[in-house]
Amino acid sequence: MNIFKRAYCRTYQGIFRIAMKVLNFRIPEVHHSLNDIPSLWEMNHCKHPLIVSDTIIINLNPVQNFLTELKSKNISFDTYIDIKPDPSFESIERLYQFYNEHNCDCILAIGGGSVIDASKALGCKTLKPEKTLDHFKGVLKVGKDIPYFIAVPTTAGTGSETTVASVVTNEKTNDKFAINDGHLIPQVAVLDDALLENLPPKIIATTGMDAFTHAIEAYIGHSGTKLTDDYATKAMKAIKDHLYDFYLDSHNDIARKNMLEASFNAGVAFTRAYVGYVHALAHSIGGVYHMPHGLCIAILLPYVLEAYGKNAYKKLAEVSDLLELKEKTESEEIKAKAVISWIKEMNQKMNIPSSFEGKIQDKDLEFLASHSAKEGNPLYPVPKEFNKEELKEIIRKANK
Ligand SMILES: [Fe+2]
Repeated sequence: MNIFKRAYCRTYQGIFRIAMKVLNFRIPEVHHSLNDIPSLWEMNHCKHPLIVSDTIIINLNPVQNFLTELKSKNISFDTYIDIKPDPSFESIERLYQFYNEHNCDCILAIGGGSVIDASKALGCKTLKPEKTLDHFKGVLKVGKDIPYFIAVPTTAGTGSETTVASVVTNEKTNDKFAINDGHLIPQVAVLDDALLENLPPKIIATTGMDAFTHAIEAYIGHSGTKLTDDYATKAMKAIKDHLYDFYLDSHNDIARKNMLEASFNAGVAFTRAYVGYVHALAHSIGGVYHMPHGLCIAILLPYVLEAYGKNAYKKLAEVSDLLELKEKTESEEIKAKAVISWIKEMNQKMNIPSSFEGKIQDKDLEFLASHSAKEGNPLYPVPKEFNKEELKEIIRKANK
């Protein structure tokens, strides 16, 4: 990237760094059991909550038990379970109509990233029903708190239960975009690991590597603070210690609890310090080829870290020390490369492919690279800025 464009990017990121301090986003209050929810509703004067979920999650035993408990206590609520991956404008409109017609006054999201993101988008609609979601696209367009919102994640990866972002898709234009606003951060996150007890290994692997990527991109970028570094390092350490055990056995209570907490901690870090080109590229590739987010992320992570080269050595060497991958006395370069090798090893152990294996077609390279460049530049405070051609080169390498 040329020097003028780079200077523009760094100035832009500097302004956002200052804004972040002023905005002072909340960290959700953390609970660990669905059973805590009725008293939270009572304390917050919720008369008729809407439970947003999907057809699989709603049938999990802990969720069914929770619903039975609500009925036995005569707590008034409604459920909406028609949430599909990559929530569309139309699906959010239907969700809002349901919320409105049933006179709901607060939101409980139980699910993965799509359910929580759809619930945040529902919150936006309740504030300005006459507007389409395009109105909220970008940064700080929501303006005030959405109705009382509790998020219960059912995967250990997205961190959506603590982030400012809701990713939605305008199905008419195929525009997949984020609404980013501190008012979308849930008031409460319920980290109830019983919900993750039967998660398939494939999901554990890819969502876990997504959480690791949130933490490492936040940590090696230029917008980290003491707070985000603390959360990111806690997350990376826990993922190193527990992801593989969780992958091998989802009934391992210690591994499961630690991964759920790591995902939350990584979310706290990246929603303040941002992600980097791994996410910019994964959003483009995942959007065009309809590949799961975590899978794209896990494949891309080592390639992007390699492309940062010596610009990321110092921070990656710190990660190596944290994860105890090499002797602390080794050079920064050796330690940085050890982190990349460890990531490749984790992918391999968890049966994540080491590349896109030729699935990405040459004809799409131009679009993918320019879409990624648009997302990453100037917003993401990455260790090294890439232009479109450099991003194309990363995609080519990751596609062999
Ligand atoms: Fe992610």
